[in-house]
Amino acid sequence: MDGMTRASFRRVCFDYGADGATTEMIQSLALGRAKRKLSPTFAETMARLPGEGNLAAQLIGSVPAMMGASARKLTDLGRFNAIDINMGCPARTVVGSGNGSALLKNPTLAMEVMRAVRESTDLPVRLKLRLGWDGEHITAPELVAYAEALGFESITLHGRTRMQMYSGKVDLPAMRAIIGSVSIPVFANGAVTCARDALSFLEATGAAGVSIGRAALKQPWIFEDIRRLRAGLPLREHNAGERVQVLIRLATLACGLRPEAVAISEMRKFSGWLLAGLTNAPELLTLLNSITTLDAYREALERYLNKLAQTGDIHIHPEKDPSSSLDTVDYRRR
Ligand SMILES: Cc1cc2nc3c(=O)[nH]c(=O)nc-3n(C[C@H](O)[C@H](O)[C@H](O)COP(=O)(O)O)c2cc1C
Repeated sequence: MDGMTRASFRRVCFDYGADGATTEMIQSLALGRAKRKLSPTFAETMARLPGEGNLAAQLIGSVPAMMGASARKLTDLGRFNAIDINMGCPARTVVGSGNGSALLKNPTLAMEVMRAVRESTDLPVRLKLRLGWDGEHITAPELVAYAEALGFESITLHGRTRMQMYSGKVDLPAMRAIIGSVSIPVFANGAVTCARDALSFLEATGAAGVSIGRAALKQPWIFEDIRRLRAGLPLREHNAGERVQVLIRLATLACGLRPEAVAISEMRKFSGWLLAGLTNAPELLTLLNSITTLDAYREALERYLNKLAQTGDIHIHPEKDPSSSLDTVDYRRR
């Protein structure tokens, strides 16, 4: 997810048992322009940390030759397991330039993009797409069939149209029909807010697996939770101690990838999501938001945890902060 799933965050998801991950979308034009010198931000988008598992680099763009050239450059970096093509992003600025889910309105061009990428790399190629542009233009079935014919490795299918953006019900029957129409693995996306959802989503769609976005931002341990449920084990609590450890790990990894002050200021969103509902979290968040170094960030969290531990109050209290009971990040409220 753009701006969210950098290498540091992905590494934590892998720690918790994620089977695979995809980079944030990488604009094919940006990759073309970055030929001579990669900017630090751009280099970081494409970073891969040791210990990251199966990782695809995601390209977004609609000029077949540019997408092909970008796929080649990503392949030459030698650090990715696959190339993923983004035909799902609904953002106005993105579709305005014909990219992301705009390709769902133009299947001919979408197929040219797919072919150009397929012919430009020897890595496995994957496709991420929505059902279609809107209810009148459901183009995923033909694009998924074409991906299979081209030998794509897998599909990630977000069960909404572009016009639904990030809310409204996913269309389970449509997903099930598309998934059943091909023999390559399809990962179902769009309806997971907690580990239990993942299992019912799998069951309802017949997918090979689930792809999780926003819910992982608040619960990076969701991958472990899913594994536990599948193994018939009870879920375990992710208490204040674990949340503090996750934040410190994330911050430490992030500081290795970008300037410390930037990395620590970018921790604000994760601090807010992971600490919501803990006793005195608002006061702690105010303090964390004024901090600019990793040492200070770690010390503030450890001091806070020690205080909680002294009173034995290390549990989440949804009644103290309603946002702590939302399992997923709600982008409609932003
Ligand atoms: C802030 C934000 C950024 C996103 N960036 C990307 C992206 O770069 N590539 C992508 O394939 N999907 C991106 N998505 C879409 C998610 O991967 C996912 O398809 C969508 O949020 C629905 O799944 P979820 O309910 O599990 O989040 C983004 C979503 C959000 C909210």
